[in-house]
Amino acid sequence: MSDDQTITECAGPDRASDAGRSLQRAVAPMQLGCAVDGQLPECMDASERALLLRHFDTLTPENCMKPAVIQPESGRFEFAEPDALVRFADKHSLNVVGHCLVWHQQCPDWLFRNGEGTASREQVLERMRRHIYTVVGRYRGRVCGWDVVNEAVADRDGFLRKTAWLACVGEDFVDYAFRFARHADPSAELYYNDYNIELPEKRERTIELLSRLRSHGIRVDGVGIQGHWILDQVPFEEIERAIVAYHALGLKVMITELDLDVIDRPDCGADVSEHYSYSVEEDLYRNACPPEVLGRQAEQYGELFALFRRHRDKVARISFWGLHDGSSWLNTWPGERTNHPLLFDRRCLGKPAFERVMEVIT
Ligand code: GLA
Repeated sequence: MSDDQTITECAGPDRASDAGRSLQRAVAPMQLGCAVDGQLPECMDASERALLLRHFDTLTPENCMKPAVIQPESGRFEFAEPDALVRFADKHSLNVVGHCLVWHQQCPDWLFRNGEGTASREQVLERMRRHIYTVVGRYRGRVCGWDVVNEAVADRDGFLRKTAWLACVGEDFVDYAFRFARHADPSAELYYNDYNIELPEKRERTIELLSRLRSHGIRVDGVGIQGHWILDQVPFEEIERAIVAYHALGLKVMITELDLDVIDRPDCGADVSEHYSYSVEEDLYRNACPPEVLGRQAEQYGELFALFRRHRDKVARISFWGLHDGSSWLNTWPGERTNHPLLFDRRCLGKPAFERVMEVIT
């Protein structure tokens, strides 16, 4: 647990009243998930475990199923962490969403190399096929859905992002990824996942991609809007338009990596290759997050959940990227600072945002 015990938290009103309440029960029929690190199920402390089991019904592995982690070298698969996570989920009747099969980040170089040169399209497709068959096949029937392709759409110019996948294979690398995954586990749902795809331009390109896949006879079951938003900059109207637009394509809509950063950053993207440096002076909330900021965060989380609730016939799942503030990636990206982006604080207690969400959702 990456806890900073020196932090004084604002835990929200009346913690005793927490007893028996479950966010997951409150948001049903939508599912409620969170990302956990692969080793976490075994290493969680008692309060983390209690928090997880009370409020969430779905787990996404934060890192251990990503290509570079699960197959760092050709043919060498690291299954210990994902196996432990899936076992934990089975034991506690939690759903697991596999994340992710094809992505340009955390993706090993060997996939695209042939000796000193670049691998051919056929070689790369064969490696993709083997990767997907092995990973999806191993968890067949135990992972209910897969983020098959992550972040393939370009942020600005062009259609697809310029990646090694695109360069080596061409635009149909997306088609192949979905075909291989469908074949490897016909019972799993298959998703396209990306950030900023609620915003008009990238939304249009994403709709184009999903429509092309359909016209090629490929079934995609859902689309994941990551939801890494920033306090005071949440694009509520665009989120609503996006939910409606993706649902109109016949897709399940999911918010897959939700957090609400209380510290401004250059943009709402989540490109982990971008590193900005933050000076210590900018670690604004090192000792505590001011109640006024937590209050605004509560209002904005409340507005988000009210929106999701209005569209609960379209939104199948809301997953947070992390269990509590101490375990969020936003403490280290895009620079080291103390962040407070989730509903639960470092002591696993509900923040004002949790209270507000419970109010609007029940
Ligand atoms: C993206 C990816 C996630 C994760 C986050 C940051 O959103 O989809 O797997 O890496 O960035 O942690």
